[in-house]
Amino acid sequence: MHARAAAVTATAILGTAALLWPGSAARAGESAAPTVVAHRGASAYAPENTLPAVDKAAELGFTWVENDVQRTRDGRLVVIHDDTLARTTNVEDVFPGRAPWKVKDFTAAEIARLDAGGWYSPAYRGTRVPTLEQYMHRVERNHEKLLLEVKNPELYPGIEQQILKLLGNESWLDRQHRGRLIVQSFSADSVRTVHDLEPAVVTGFLGKPPVSELHEYARFTDLINPSYGSLSAGYVSSVHSFTGPHTKRLGVFAWTVNDAAAARKVRGYGVDGIISNKPDVVRAALRAH
Ligand code: G3P
Ligand code: CA
Repeated sequence: MHARAAAVTATAILGTAALLWPGSAARAGESAAPTVVAHRGASAYAPENTLPAVDKAAELGFTWVENDVQRTRDGRLVVIHDDTLARTTNVEDVFPGRAPWKVKDFTAAEIARLDAGGWYSPAYRGTRVPTLEQYMHRVERNHEKLLLEVKNPELYPGIEQQILKLLGNESWLDRQHRGRLIVQSFSADSVRTVHDLEPAVVTGFLGKPPVSELHEYARFTDLINPSYGSLSAGYVSSVHSFTGPHTKRLGVFAWTVNDAAAARKVRGYGVDGIISNKPDVVRAALRAH
């Protein structure tokens, strides 16, 4: 089916109520409490983008986790931030002759041999780089929600379709999961592709487009997600004045906010979400004032 026709069909079948992102029920001028998202899992307290980081977020009482998805040489989707394995695994010890240790140059079986926790703390030795499938199962088990980042999509042609296929196989595109999934990327092309392929999915663009271009973004993204240091109340308000592809106002999730002062500042700007390595610190700051 053509993407536009699919969009119409999806909207007709799902209805608008099923398409909301957190905070989207607020009208312009209203400010709901921002949704707090555990960045790469609760990554200040467990190795980033691993199953323990997902569990830690749940233990702390957070529903939303963020991750980064890339692809192995043999086409498996894995959860890891950098385009190389060097910083967050022991790949240099296990495969010393394979510099620069790009994720895309290793098979899933090779990556499964690596330790992705020892670099963080000896207590996490033996932790693995999760496949996206393993990761989804853990998120599902914990009744969590997922802000999935398509990382470095220019390195992985077709990765958007592949991610959506996996999500579909795991039932994450079914109606009952609406409201539990947002797909974001620094690549506008990638976000647009996700929207065109699966129009019912809520999407986010990572960055801060000029206000004069926001109307273009509003065709394919529900959220504009800038770094918190680049934000202002005026910008958030400008974003909120646009209506997104699901006929709700565009939202703003700010990253990566790890201290109380910054959390209070961006809350004051009216953001809809705060993405943090220390979600507990953000929650405490928002409760205190
Ligand atoms: O979710 C926002 C944030 O993850 C973007 O930056 O480099 O941590 O993926 P990065
Ligand atoms: Ca990310």
